[in-house]
Formats: sequence, structure tokens, C-alpha cells
Amino acid sequence: RLFYDKDCSLDPLSGKTIVFIGYGNQGRAQALNLRDTIKAESLPNPPKILIANNKDSYASQAEADGFSFTTDWSQAASEADILFLLVPDQVQPTLFNESIAPTLKPTCCIVVASGYNVFYRYLSIPSSADVVMVAPRMIGTSVRSRYTSGQGFPCFVSVEQDGTGHAWELALALCRGIGATKRGVIESSVREETLMDLFAEQALWPAIIAAFREAYATLKGLGCSDEALCHELWMSKEPAEVFEKCADDGFIKQLVHHSSVSQYGQLKGSMEVDTSLIKKEFKRVAEDRILSGAFAEEFTDLDRDGPGVQKKLEELYEKASESELAKGEARHSSPSKMSTFEP
Ligand code: NAI
Repeated sequence: RLFYDKDCSLDPLSGKTIVFIGYGNQGRAQALNLRDTIKAESLPNPPKILIANNKDSYASQAEADGFSFTTDWSQAASEADILFLLVPDQVQPTLFNESIAPTLKPTCCIVVASGYNVFYRYLSIPSSADVVMVAPRMIGTSVRSRYTSGQGFPCFVSVEQDGTGHAWELALALCRGIGATKRGVIESSVREETLMDLFAEQALWPAIIAAFREAYATLKGLGCSDEALCHELWMSKEPAEVFEKCADDGFIKQLVHHSSVSQYGQLKGSMEVDTSLIKKEFKRVAEDRILSGAFAEEFTDLDRDGPGVQKKLEELYEKASESELAKGEARHSSPSKMSTFEP
């Protein structure tokens, strides 16, 4: 199902207190959009918006933007009829379970912008509450800029728990409030959103990174230079432009913009690739790593009793730097002049 402006009334927001926990990428963009919509639509008995945040640079931004602001999470939670949980995913469980859940109104509507913590049941949510997902498929700055330019942005919506019996009306009102229904909001679920998001990160992009790495090593072995390879494969930005065309014209249809030799090579080659290993790997990641919860448990354990996420990332970057591609890129270019021909 798709929902547009005409399908969503703002009335369920009247008289409510809406609390934003976090004023970062999504928090700021969504709070600004919501405030502007409420003003533009002259909603009777308009909702009150309150930002809760630690005293940091994000908090200074909230105050500069003219929002009411508090550092008292528990007080903010006790006032909330609707509570947007917009701090980073790894921060949410401890903050929510220890400082927010104990003082929440039983019928509060909890709004998440990512399915992760709800799907893996990391949040202790009372059964009388509503839980909805309003998940923009855009970074925060685009959520704001596309609102101000009147374009809207793609967004998923779902109701995960309907404690009050009115969660859908609220979820759709919030989608309209933040400006997502201009372009059509897609009904989804925390399962679908988490599966697709983690699958792209853990299966699809790793396959693409591995394909580039092996392509580089193969062509380097056949005498191609670092300079030529870096530019041919990614620095020219041709791949980025092809992806733009995929979105605009269609994943396969955009091929007509390429030469006949290229079209023939891409269409025939993609049908001849032996995908049996890829299929097996994709199924393993989707079922044994993501849906089973094994990845989420492993990731949580890194900080709980393992080496820590940051330390593990450093190790992985170190290992990635050993590939022929990474070494070739380092030989060819310093980061400040990547993708340019400036001396
Ligand atoms: P962010 O990284 O911009 O969050 C910064 C905010 O979190 C600030 O208000 C900061 O004060 C607060 N914060 C950071 N660490 C904290 C801590 N230890 N304790 C208390 N507050 C802390 O977060 P972002 O990217 O806006 O993500 C929020 C939610 O939106 C997440 O669920 C994310 O998955 C989702 N989302 C993010 C998108 C993006 O483009 N960044 C896109 C769509 C969804």
C-alpha cells in the first residue's frame, strides 16, 4: 500500500505533546518539517514539540532553531503522547530502557526511524503503547531540503503494536507532518526494513566490493596501470552516473545509453555468470545471519564483552588496506586529489 497527503489527516496530532529524543540527522530534519507543516496547515489546538537531548552541539542547534529543550530524559518521556526515538541505533536500548520507559505514559506512541531495535526486541515497551515505524529512505539533510523544495522523499511506514487501536491514524498523520506523504509512503514492517537494510550492507555491497577488488587484481595482473584502473573503475564517477540512470530510467532500460558493444557485453555477460555461489551466500546472510539474530547478537557483544566496535573496525580497515585495489589507489592518489586531474 502507498499513502499520499490525501489519505492522511493531521487531526490525530491536535493537542498532543510530541517529544523528539535526539536532534541529529533525522531528529532535526523531522522536527523542523513537522513544525512547519503544523504552522502551514493552521492545525487547531496545535501539538507542542519538545526536544530532549544531552547538552551538546546538537542541543545548541535545537535551541538556536527555537525549540523548547530539556536534558531531562525522564521528564520529557513522562510528558510525551508521541515520542520519536532518534538517537543512534546502538544508543537506543540503554537510553530507552533505563531513562525513558520507566516514566512513559502507558498509551504513548513510540516512533522509530529504523526497524532494528524493535525487530530484535531490544526495547522494553509496555504492551499498552503504540509502536510505529516512520523510516525515511534519505539522509536528514535531504529530508529537510526536499521538504522545503516541496518534493517529498521516499519513506516506509508500519504499525508494529497497536496498543490504543489508533496507531495507524497517528502513524499516517506523522508521515504527513514530516512531509513524507508528498511522494507516497510505502507500507512496510520492521522485519522487512531490517532485512533489506542489513542485507544490502552485509551481502549485496560486500559482493560488489569483492567484485571490484577481484577485477582490480585481475586487470593489474594483466598489465593495467593503477592510474588507468582507478579512473576506469570508479574515479571517473561513471558508475555513480549509471546508478542515477538506473533510478531514473530503470535498472535494465538505462543500458540503452551505452554503446552496442557495451549493451551486448553487459546483457550476455550477466546471464553467463555462475550465480550458484552468490545465491548460496545471499541465503546464508539473510537467514543465518540477519533473520536468526546472529549478526545483531555478535555486534552487541563487541561492545559488551568483546574488543569494542571501534577496535574491530580498525582491524577490518587494516585488513582491507592489504588488497591490490587499496594499495594501487594509495600509490596513485592522495585522498585530497581523488577523482581530479589536478597536480
Ligand atoms: P545521529 O547520529 O545524527 O544522532 C545524533 C543525536 O543522538 C544527537 O542528538 C546526539 O546528541 C544524540 N546522541 C548521540 N549519542 C548519544 C548518547 N550516547 N546518549 C544520548 N544521546 C546521544 O542519528 P541519526 O543518524 O539521525 O539516526 C537516528 C535514527 O534514524 C536511527 O534509528 C537511524 O537508524 C535512523 N535513520 C537515520 C538515517 C540517516 O540518514 N542518518 C536515515 C534513516 C533512518
